[in-house]
Amino acid sequence: MSQKIFIKTFGCQMNEYDSNRIYDAVKEIGFEKTDRCEDANCYLLNTCHIRDKASEKVYHEIGRVKKIFRSKKKPLVIVAGCVAQAENQEMLKRDPYIDIIIGPQAYHKINDKILNFTEKQKVEETEFDAVSKFEYLSRIKNKTGKATSFLTIQEGCDKFCNFCVVPYTRGPEYSRPFDQIMNEAKSLANQGCKEIILLGQNVNAYFNNGLRLSNIINEIEKIKKIERIRYTTSHPKDMTEDLVEIYKYSKKLMPLIHLPVQSGSDKILNLMNRKHTIKEYLKTFERLKKINPLIEFSSDFIISYPGEEEKDFRETLNLIEDVKFINSYSFIFSPRPGTVADRLKTIDKKISLKRLEKVQEKLYQNQIIKNKSLENKIINVLAENQTGDRTKIFGRSEYMTSVIFEGNKKDIGKILQIKITKSNRNTLFGKVIDNPKQKVA
Ligand code: SAM
Ligand code: SF4
Ligand code: F3S
Repeated sequence: MSQKIFIKTFGCQMNEYDSNRIYDAVKEIGFEKTDRCEDANCYLLNTCHIRDKASEKVYHEIGRVKKIFRSKKKPLVIVAGCVAQAENQEMLKRDPYIDIIIGPQAYHKINDKILNFTEKQKVEETEFDAVSKFEYLSRIKNKTGKATSFLTIQEGCDKFCNFCVVPYTRGPEYSRPFDQIMNEAKSLANQGCKEIILLGQNVNAYFNNGLRLSNIINEIEKIKKIERIRYTTSHPKDMTEDLVEIYKYSKKLMPLIHLPVQSGSDKILNLMNRKHTIKEYLKTFERLKKINPLIEFSSDFIISYPGEEEKDFRETLNLIEDVKFINSYSFIFSPRPGTVADRLKTIDKKISLKRLEKVQEKLYQNQIIKNKSLENKIINVLAENQTGDRTKIFGRSEYMTSVIFEGNKKDIGKILQIKITKSNRNTLFGKVIDNPKQKVA
């Protein structure tokens, strides 16, 4: 009888990619994926350390697992991801229910750690070895079998923004070899994938053997079966000329660019050690808009970074007004252990909450206006899966907005023309167009 593994994933898309690759890896030693935690022989928690009480969330989750298995044989409990990297030995000491701690750059060793595990010897593996990890992962197939797939091309970060734990949890910047990436992209295409989302903590800092992100996009563009290309997350400083230029001729790059700006104030950007100014950011925005006025930007914002005054905050609101960001994220600054900003004086919670509310209101307004403008128009949608109740189809627009429509299960994996009949802040609703010759918005 095969063993069953259940993975719970917190955090960013890279953790989602990693969890899928861990499923691919443990299959080699006889593990089968289960969606029911209570059936698992192995429970793996893939954690995120980016904000707030990250490690507390992990212990809370482990507590929940303990309850589920109170009257059953305990599963093998593995904590992976960024909290595992940051807290390592501490976690084993604090909760003996945890058996294995494994950091994000050590997943190539996961099978070995599982097979050799004994109750007497808890395991901690947090070495940074991205080269071996990706060599190993390239030998086993990425088997998502989905219409849209993540593909990590770069990992780690050398930028050290003063608020961020990522350089410590993911290690130094590493770019995978070009051929390794292309083999994975072709294999995904052959399994029916239509959209590839290239991933990296600084995806546009990709650099290997003289090749850049633009070279990867150009090469994936040639894979016939791939119809959409996206990349995330980019850093404003790495929006190089070659990457901007590619928007002039690419037929597959989607017109939504996720380019986190964090703040609209140069003073705050400087305090954050972001290494770019608003003027430079707007220059990139204008160059791209000139190439294609339909391009939209999305961003991440940190509200109430230490030192943020009303004037700085207003500059963030003004920037949102000018760029008209859609599909964006905003968070109140959260002090992270080990980072420079951890030692700085935080801003009053009430003020921070008010500022967050204002920013979100503005971002939501932009989104509502954008979605409303699509009502009665026909848009291209990649059909991804059935909705939870199986009555409709879920897909995404070119701008990553969720679209729910009446359609056929056999259309999953296709790009369809959908007439939008209704919208709200986060979702578009519509129906499939029978005459696919009509003009698309
Ligand atoms: N590499 C990306 C960049 O440079 O924009 C960001 C990656 S980070 C995983 C995702 C987002 O989390 C950041 O853009 C930032 O807005 C947010 N974030 C990171 N550290 C944070 C902190 N200490 N407090 C609040 N938000 C934070
Ligand atoms: Fe974190 Fe991004 Fe800054 Fe790197 S560039 S330190 S990942 S916010
Ligand atoms: Fe979280 Fe690590 Fe991603 S801290 S956001 S899982 S890189």
